[in-house]
Amino acid sequence: MTETFAVKLEEKCYLPDPRCKAAAWTPDYTRAYQEFMHDPEAFWDQVAHELDWFEPWDRVLEWNYPYAKWFVNGKLNITYNCLDRHVTSDRRDKPAVIWRGEGGEERRLTYDGLYREVMRCANALAGLGVGKGDRVCIYMPLVPEQIVAMLACARLGAVHSVVFGGFGAGALAMRINDAEAKVVITADVGYRRGKTIPLRDIVNEALTHAPCVEKTVVFRRGTPAVDLDPAREVDYADLVARAAPDCPAEVMDAEDPLFILYTSGSTGAPKGIVHTCGGYMVGTYYTSRHDFDIKESDILWCTADPGWITGHSYIVYGPLAVGTTVVIAEGTPDYPDPGAYWRLVQDLGVTIFYTAPTAIRMFMRHGDAWPAKYDLSTLRVLGSVGEPLNPEAFEWYYHRIGGGECPVVDTWWQTETGMHVVTTMIGEAMKPGFAGRAIPGAVVDVVDRTGKPVPPGTGGFLVIREPWPAMLRTVHGNDARYRTYWETIPGCYTAGDLAVKDEEGYIMILGRADDLIVVAGHNIGTAEVESALVSHDAVAEAAVIGKPDALKGNVIKAFVTLRVGANPGDALTDELARHVKKSLGPVAVPAEIEFMDRLPKTRSGKIMRRVLKARELGMDPGDISTLEE
Ligand code: WT7
Repeated sequence: MTETFAVKLEEKCYLPDPRCKAAAWTPDYTRAYQEFMHDPEAFWDQVAHELDWFEPWDRVLEWNYPYAKWFVNGKLNITYNCLDRHVTSDRRDKPAVIWRGEGGEERRLTYDGLYREVMRCANALAGLGVGKGDRVCIYMPLVPEQIVAMLACARLGAVHSVVFGGFGAGALAMRINDAEAKVVITADVGYRRGKTIPLRDIVNEALTHAPCVEKTVVFRRGTPAVDLDPAREVDYADLVARAAPDCPAEVMDAEDPLFILYTSGSTGAPKGIVHTCGGYMVGTYYTSRHDFDIKESDILWCTADPGWITGHSYIVYGPLAVGTTVVIAEGTPDYPDPGAYWRLVQDLGVTIFYTAPTAIRMFMRHGDAWPAKYDLSTLRVLGSVGEPLNPEAFEWYYHRIGGGECPVVDTWWQTETGMHVVTTMIGEAMKPGFAGRAIPGAVVDVVDRTGKPVPPGTGGFLVIREPWPAMLRTVHGNDARYRTYWETIPGCYTAGDLAVKDEEGYIMILGRADDLIVVAGHNIGTAEVESALVSHDAVAEAAVIGKPDALKGNVIKAFVTLRVGANPGDALTDELARHVKKSLGPVAVPAEIEFMDRLPKTRSGKIMRRVLKARELGMDPGDISTLEE
């Protein structure tokens, strides 16, 4: 780990319409935060009381560093809160899930419809011998059945491990084995950019290395339907149709595991992050409702796949616990054309839109004309997650998509945190480049390696000081790895990100701590140089690595993709170097700039600098199972 370092902060501030603030679930951030700090357990106790429990908890929190138990001895089932609670209310016939396929096909499930599907699917799984505590691997395309399968597992108390449908057989086998899954739920195919992804064939390949699996359930979409092997495979539709309609929710302890999810692994080998029922439910419910300010008539589109934590928390569990309508769409943002997302927003009247900076930069690259073609006036909240939202992307998102009227909530969190931790709550002043402040409910700081807070304007390590309800409880099969999160910097959870605070406590995320380059004794964040490059009109995306150099220790090498219409060449290389020099100074100027058609990314959209670096240095790139293409 490195020492702390100075960061030059340039601040611009946008004040949202005061009406946003007045109508928000958290109308006064400062007051809400003070209330939380005054009595954190009382704060979470109150939130938990908004949900349905089979038996109340004895204590809100039991904290034996670094092990937390939340809502001790409370009994619940998260699906009772996502389904039963709504079908006995006015939400019974409200759409829960609206699905769009790549070809424009649509399916809708009301809360009542989803409830019935989930119960049948749960009974079907029970018929295969799945019960409380068993692990089930879900390897599905983005179809409603993916969500149904997750909820069906949770209904039975089985632990799901969702593996994103873009992973290959090796990555899938590793995850199945690590979790010792007994059943795999898949589909014959997924669709992406008009191409077919043979999911079930990939499963079969993976299973040659995964003897723990007893049965594969196959959701068949293609015609003619693929033949199944009766010894190992069962048909989803058939199984569900034959299952009994009613399936009461299993009574779960608050600390029983709900799911395992492998981190996207932009560094090192994937880790099975374990989340539990009670705290995760309370944390995702609260942050969904308050950070997105979900109201009864909202339609939320989170463009992630349920196979990522973003989808688990903000497509499935959080929004359904709140009782909102969620949109899901199979496919990619630029297929069949770069207007695909905006057409969908217009068609369905999406009001809350949550996506990743990588998608926003891709839209910027295609120009303003695409979103301008569509009526985006239903949008009222714009969210971002996954990477730093650089100021240029913020501005574009805010003006071109939000028409200068929608609050932008840049949410910082992780697979490990389970829920949002830092953001700018609706109605608060927004500062491009800054994610915002700790949500009421979390205690966040920027510290040096001893855990001492650093002053504003000084970069350091982003930490969380106190346990929070949706925090990971362990790493599956590797508790020592869990403890390192809490043992790296004394007294805190170390997120692994570098950050800087301003005078008002707004936090700017500078990137992963391992994305720091030391050039001639200066610490330079890859994110800073990338942000400077992207602020040039010609640049769409940039990735920066350090390259060993006899003289300087390291020099900076930048890989750049250009916006449509820009010309690569020496003239542009010089201009970009000048541009970085002007904004960050000579020390941050890349020694080399290489123009690329695309950058290597994880399937969740994070640039894999490690892969670029390995290629550059002629080394083995290590585990690349998470690489997109
Ligand atoms: C890492 C966690 C949490 C859902 C998606 C990713 C980076 C996440 C932001 C943000 C800057 C962000 C961090 C973090 N990250 N959100 N708003 N601003 N960086 O989950 O794969 O577990 O990755 O993503 O580096 O540590 P994940």
